[in-house]
Amino acid sequence: MKTTLFTLAAAGVVYAQTQTSYGQCGGNTWLGPSACPTGQYCSGGNDYYSGCVPGTAPPTSTRPKPTATRAPASGKRVKYAGVNIAGFDFGCDTTGTCGASSAFPPGSKGVGQMNHFVTDDGLNAFRLPVSWQYLVNGVLGGSINANNLAIYDKLVQACIASGAALCEIDIHNYARWNGKIIGQDSGAPTNAQFASFWGSLAAKYANNNKVAFGIMNEPHDLDINLWATTVQAAVTAIRQAGATTNYVLIPGTNYASAGQFLDNGSGAALLPVHNPDGTFTNIIFDVHKYLDSDNSGTHPQCTTNNSAVFTTLGNWLRTNKRSAFLTETGGGPTDTTCYTNLCQQFETMNSYNDVYFGWIGWAAGQFDPSYVLSEVPTQNSDGSWADVPLVTKCVAGEFNGDSS
Ligand SMILES: *[C@@H]1O[C@H](CO)[C@@H](O)[C@H](O)[C@H]1NC(C)=O
Ligand SMILES: *[C@@H]1O[C@H](CO)[C@@H](O)[C@H](O)[C@H]1NC(C)=O
Repeated sequence: MKTTLFTLAAAGVVYAQTQTSYGQCGGNTWLGPSACPTGQYCSGGNDYYSGCVPGTAPPTSTRPKPTATRAPASGKRVKYAGVNIAGFDFGCDTTGTCGASSAFPPGSKGVGQMNHFVTDDGLNAFRLPVSWQYLVNGVLGGSINANNLAIYDKLVQACIASGAALCEIDIHNYARWNGKIIGQDSGAPTNAQFASFWGSLAAKYANNNKVAFGIMNEPHDLDINLWATTVQAAVTAIRQAGATTNYVLIPGTNYASAGQFLDNGSGAALLPVHNPDGTFTNIIFDVHKYLDSDNSGTHPQCTTNNSAVFTTLGNWLRTNKRSAFLTETGGGPTDTTCYTNLCQQFETMNSYNDVYFGWIGWAAGQFDPSYVLSEVPTQNSDGSWADVPLVTKCVAGEFNGDSS
């Protein structure tokens, strides 16, 4: 194992070697070869182990492919739509306390889901949550851990290989490290430490514009003006690391709430965040919005279509010539109140497609299909996939114009 890891690190990734007959070719944390010898294929046994077996791979899907890029009925649509592929963030709570060992890599399950969402549903964007602690293996101020990054990078590379147009790295820490607010609490990470972390990470993906940098998941209960200086430090570090054109997604407070982005001062505080050359190019506001009674994303019923929220924010974005991306939203996967309201929310966003990049539903990946906001597709024994109705009708349906 050590030898394999060393080789991979030295080669700068790539899992191009061919495995021996009946050898391991996959699994959540597998870093060895994924190719099987002639006459064998890689059979996914479970999340932890896939092995080379004789024969040819069965088709992954028997469903007809959608005709490419259908336009919605309105004739307008956002650029990006997809689903969060969660797992590397598991174990993080809202205090930003994340055990590096609680991460649950989506592995071959996540890869299969992304390939399905692109091929069968015409979706094109995935958000890949991961904790800061995981990427530095629990050492604040430490350098990026090569082994952990290689495991996470497998998911990023699989996203790119799926044909998706956008793969977002999301640092899922609520603006904190183990309870302390970055740049605000004593004993907390400094802005310089956060910026240095982002500079190192950005340098690794600087040559790929499909990779977007979601600098932080859901900041909350902090000083928004101080937070804006933290965000500025990260943006500057990302650009100085050579990632001059990747999208950088920047969130406000109140858990990145779209509804409170203007009321609570996030918009005003973040508007001046700029590139080193003074421009705002490819700096995008990152917002979240749920549709349940308290906007928490913990109830299956949807009580609002958020039309007013996305109209007000959309008008502000137009006035300021900026864009936003809704990177978390969702509802009960089989709840009819959500079919109506989530679809209407997306219709409003489609009508503002000049300022909204799109939406990414929460969530698939390692969640159990029984999860209250599950967008987890299930694979049938013949290799075909079944989506939850909310994905079919709204997440994909409103993107492809076939929700009804
Ligand atoms: C944020 O804005 C909402 C209105 O959208 C308001 O009810 C709430 O008190 C505000 N919270 C803070 C901390 O400013
Ligand atoms: C959202 O709901 C309101 C009523 O609550 C309605 O007036 C509006 O048309 C709906 N938006 C869409 C896009 O259907």
